[in-house]
Amino acid sequence: MSTSLAWDERYAGGDFQFGEAPNLFLPSQAHRLKPGMRALAVGDGEGRNGVWLARQGLAATSVDWSAVGLAKARALAQRYGVMLETVTADLSRWDWPEARFDVIAWIFVHLPPEDRAIACAQAVRALAPGGLLLLECFTPAQEGRRSGGPKDRALLWSRALVERHFAGLEVLELLEGTVMLDEGPRHQGVAEVVRAVLKK
Ligand SMILES: C[S@@+](CC[C@H](N)C(=O)[O-])C[C@H]1O[C@@H](n2cnc3c(N)ncnc32)[C@H](O)[C@@H]1O
Repeated sequence: MSTSLAWDERYAGGDFQFGEAPNLFLPSQAHRLKPGMRALAVGDGEGRNGVWLARQGLAATSVDWSAVGLAKARALAQRYGVMLETVTADLSRWDWPEARFDVIAWIFVHLPPEDRAIACAQAVRALAPGGLLLLECFTPAQEGRRSGGPKDRALLWSRALVERHFAGLEVLELLEGTVMLDEGPRHQGVAEVVRAVLKK
């Protein structure tokens, strides 16, 4: 079972487990982002995505249950000279703000089904009208590949799960398929993902 302590242990040490550069899908959506937008990077770990959003001029917040990961996120932000708010919280229990964010980045966050349902509903609530949800996660086709992702099949995402959990949002892009990951030591090689751009 995944726990905050297990993630703290993974993040202990100097290396960035998923690299310091953002997940590649995020910059591919740069044309939708504007300085001053309020962004939330959920399950942001060591902060590579929240820091990239801050570097684009967005007011970025990273939330994760690993205090160790978020300490590295703050150090990364400081290195780039950008502001990053960090919140240490369990996504299934966090008191999510309402209608606060213009962008939510949900990158490789794989929760047990009950927690996922809670966090997804809260993410929809936390989006401001017109706000965007940008998601990339592993699908069941990733099973057996060594390029990352949870071992527990129940945690994997799919196009159908995106449609179910975010039924209230407009689909701008929704694709399931094969990509090449080159993200630190933990995400390397051919991988099976779902990518979504959804609008409130
Ligand atoms: C695969 S890592 C991805 C980290 C980051 N999104 C990235 O792409 O670099 C998954 C992250 O989700 C966080 N996480 C998992 N379950 C969580 C929960 N219930 N509440 C908050 N964070 C959680 C972990 O601590 C970890 O940082």
